[in-house]
Amino acid sequence: MPLPSFARRASFVFLLPVISCLATTVTVSLDGPGKAISPDLFGIFFEDLSYAADGGLYAELIQNRSFEYQAIEQPAWNNLTAWEIVNRAGKGSLKVDASFPLNSNNPHYAVLAVETPGNGVGLSNAGYNGIPVTTGESFGLSFFARENFFGRRWNDIGKSGRLPLIARLETADGEVLAEASLEITEREWRRFSTTLTARKTDPAARFVILVTAPGGIAFDEISLFPQKTFHGHANGLRADLAQTIADLRPRFMRFPGGCLVHGNGLGNIYRWKDTIGPIEQRRQQANLWGYHQSVGLGYFEYFQFCEDIGARPLPVVAAGVCCQNSGEGIGQAGLPLAEMDSYIQDVLDLIEWANGPATSTWGAKRAAGGHPEPFGLKYLGVGNEDQITPVFRERFKLIHEAVKAKHPEIVLVGTVGPFPDGEDFDKGWQIAGELGVAIVDEHYYRSPQWFWDNLQRYDSYDRRKSKVYAGEYAAHDDNRRNTLRSAIAEAAYLTSLERNGDVVHMASYAPMLARRDRTHWSPDLIYFNSTQVFPTLNYTIQQLFSHNRGETYLATVLDQTTSAKVRIAASTVRESQSGDVIFKLVNGEDKPHAFTVRFDGKRSLPATAIQTVLTGATGDIVNEDGAAPAATPKTTAISLTSEYSYEAPANSLTIIRIKTK
Ligand code: AHR
Repeated sequence: MPLPSFARRASFVFLLPVISCLATTVTVSLDGPGKAISPDLFGIFFEDLSYAADGGLYAELIQNRSFEYQAIEQPAWNNLTAWEIVNRAGKGSLKVDASFPLNSNNPHYAVLAVETPGNGVGLSNAGYNGIPVTTGESFGLSFFARENFFGRRWNDIGKSGRLPLIARLETADGEVLAEASLEITEREWRRFSTTLTARKTDPAARFVILVTAPGGIAFDEISLFPQKTFHGHANGLRADLAQTIADLRPRFMRFPGGCLVHGNGLGNIYRWKDTIGPIEQRRQQANLWGYHQSVGLGYFEYFQFCEDIGARPLPVVAAGVCCQNSGEGIGQAGLPLAEMDSYIQDVLDLIEWANGPATSTWGAKRAAGGHPEPFGLKYLGVGNEDQITPVFRERFKLIHEAVKAKHPEIVLVGTVGPFPDGEDFDKGWQIAGELGVAIVDEHYYRSPQWFWDNLQRYDSYDRRKSKVYAGEYAAHDDNRRNTLRSAIAEAAYLTSLERNGDVVHMASYAPMLARRDRTHWSPDLIYFNSTQVFPTLNYTIQQLFSHNRGETYLATVLDQTTSAKVRIAASTVRESQSGDVIFKLVNGEDKPHAFTVRFDGKRSLPATAIQTVLTGATGDIVNEDGAAPAATPKTTAISLTSEYSYEAPANSLTIIRIKTK
């Protein structure tokens, strides 16, 4: 029966406040069969961008150790960038030469001519904004050197047969923090090494090497590492940064890029073979982000790091084309087809290097690097954000077919262009369908609202087609800040990836690392300077999801009447090993939101559960360097009922871990 008009008006007046107070119901099916989630869903993406490698994760403390910086990398750079001549009341000169190099991959070296030594003539290097040292800390110094003919004579070693050197760590004012003496006795290149132990702390020391007799000396590959690297490896990684990454417990790591892989022009494509073997023999090159790649952090070190942190390696090789944004009008170009056989052989050799026995040609090189056991490569990326052109298509197909034919066990990850939709995206998916590419790599750098608007993106993906790797994503808030708002939008999105963990096989935030004083791209997951690491709120979200992952998704249904209107999201997973049920609830609104969580199932729930909440005063908060985090997860024990009433704070992620065993 129709209501009288006053009653209709009255219900209209009273209904609005009533609805906004009503709790949204979330129903979790504890007994349903659930849906398998990819075990490799949450991982990381490392790109040498913003000094992520040299000056970052790679623990080398000397900048431009091989004297290979060039003006094509930065106009103000040359082979002596980061080096200075040091003259302690003597007379001498410093120049660069390439006449008798260590090897052809490392052509330049420094030549010091000391006329009168005074208290020493030499060279100094302050690393990347100073070399941080702490009292008692030891450093491994190594370098290549040889006596060098200068003027009309060789060194004054006729008398002693030796050219004495002093290696030091000094403060900027010249106070000696550590010291060691060495002697050069040969005219051929030879490697020297010693240990320097600091007797005082200085966050910005410099390395100095002084010659204390008249003579000429050539130096190359001057390297200084903290002895305490991550897992103690020689040529290793910065322990604090590596540990911060390890604390994410990533299931895979994609490397070494990004755009870095396909490079700025064909000559700049990242070639993995140039990055293995003794560091002084690796072929360095310009980094397309405007600096230098020493490739001291090369394929061996990437694979070793993956092993150390329990992540599957996901190396990416270029699809035989360079970046479509290559400068000087180059745009996308393809390797000549006549070179594709050899390029493809390099890709096949990579698989042998990673997985072949130590007796195989490339497996032997891995073993020579110190890893006789195979690395267990499963995934291989081919291409990154490439424009999908006939040039790309032809080369991608050749690589794909060759890998499939020789290594059907390798899971190949293709690309669908730079954007989450559009022409390249469609064409990329078409190629993937035609060739049967196992996984394709989708990227999205979008506003927080885009992430909320796309929570259903994968619900309708055809499960018979290629799987998805969300290889690069980040919610870009205003001014590209790492706000809580952006982190919460990503959290909501991650619930949708859990729900679609049968089709979304992997996902990784991007970029991961950025050095504070040399950041080329924002936002990033983890910032750092020489001595400190600054994880963002986005990092906290990644960590919370990674530590609360599961292998089975349990149906989690939000009441549609409110969920369509407000920014809320939820998912539930079961962790097989513990049997725990992990419920996640995201509120992206600027005010609290009331929920009734119905845990449907035959088994009775335990009386208590562990609840973790990340929230902050406003969506605008960000972690400030050196300050306490703007928001930290708070964990409490809660009383649980099968109908749990809960008010989710504004801008929050709530995780409830329920023990069912
Ligand atoms: O993550 C930074 C860059 O973004 C990557 O190199 C590229 O793939 C993307 O455009």
